[in-house]
Amino acid sequence: MTLENTTALVTGGASGMGEAIARRLADAGATVVVLDRDASKGEKVAADLDGRFVPADVTDETDVSAAVAAATALAPLRTCVHCAGIGWAERTLNRAGSPHSLETFRKVLDVNLVGTFNVLRLAASGMSANEPDDGGERGVIINTASAAAYDGQIGQAAYSASKGGVVALTLTTARDLSAVGIRVCTIAPGLVDTPLRVARDGAGAQSLHERRSRPDGCGHPHAAQVGRVEE
Ligand SMILES: NC(=O)c1ccc[n+]([C@@H]2O[C@H](COP(=O)([O-])OP(=O)(O)OC[C@H]3O[C@@H](n4cnc5c(N)ncnc54)[C@H](O)[C@@H]3O)[C@@H](O)[C@H]2O)c1
Repeated sequence: MTLENTTALVTGGASGMGEAIARRLADAGATVVVLDRDASKGEKVAADLDGRFVPADVTDETDVSAAVAAATALAPLRTCVHCAGIGWAERTLNRAGSPHSLETFRKVLDVNLVGTFNVLRLAASGMSANEPDDGGERGVIINTASAAAYDGQIGQAAYSASKGGVVALTLTTARDLSAVGIRVCTIAPGLVDTPLRVARDGAGAQSLHERRSRPDGCGHPHAAQVGRVEE
C-alpha cells in the first residue's frame, strides 16, 4: 500500500509507541491525524509532522467519529494504528484479602478493549468509502495488544483480560472486514521503554524484564499491590 496522498489515524499518538509510529508514517508520506486525550503533547506531535491533532477519548463515539471525519476530509483514510491504552497493576486478592476493585477492572476493559473496538469500527466505516487499490484493498487497521494477552503476570488480571480481548477480536473483525477489503492486524509487544515507563520507574522496567525471564514466569513486582502501569 502506498501512503502518499492518504491519511493515517494514530490513536495514542501523543506519546510512546503511538508517537513513534506517527513519525514513521509521516516520514513514509502519510498525512497523520493524531488522536489522543493529551492535548498538549498531541498538538505538539501533530505540528511537528504537519499533521492534525484531534483531542479524543477512544471510548467516546462522538470524539472518535470526529477524528475519523477529520482524517477522511484531508485524504482517503487508509491506515489506522490504535495505540491508546492504559495499564493497571492490582492483585485479584490483596495481602489483606480485599478483592480487586470491580471499578478499575471495568475501566481497563473500557479503555483497552471497548476503546479498541470503537476505533476499529469507526475507522472501518470511514475506510469503506475508499476506492479499492489494485489489490482490492481499502485500508488496514492495526491494534495493539501485549505479551500480557498470552502471559499475564501477577497483578495483571484486568490488563491481560483487556489485551486478550483485543487478540480475540482480531480474527473475527478481519473476517468481517475482508469483504470490504480492509485488513485487521494486532501486534503484541513485550516491554518497551516508552516515556511513561521511564518516568515511572526506569530501573523497574529492567526488573520486570528480569522477572519475566525467570523459569517460573512470575513476573509482576510483588510490591505493586495496586498502581498504574503503562504496559
Ligand atoms: N510500553 C510497553 O512496554 C507496552 C508493552 C505492550 C503493550 N503496550 C501497549 O502499547 C500501547 C501504547 O503504550 P505506550 O507504552 O506507548 O504508552 P504511553 O502511555 O506512552 O502512550 C499511551 C497514549 O495513550 C493515550 N491514552 C490513554 N488513554 C486514552 C484514551 N482513553 N483516549 C485517548 N487517548 C488515550 C495517552 O494519553 C498516551 O498518550 C498501549 O495500548 C499499551 O498497553 C505497551
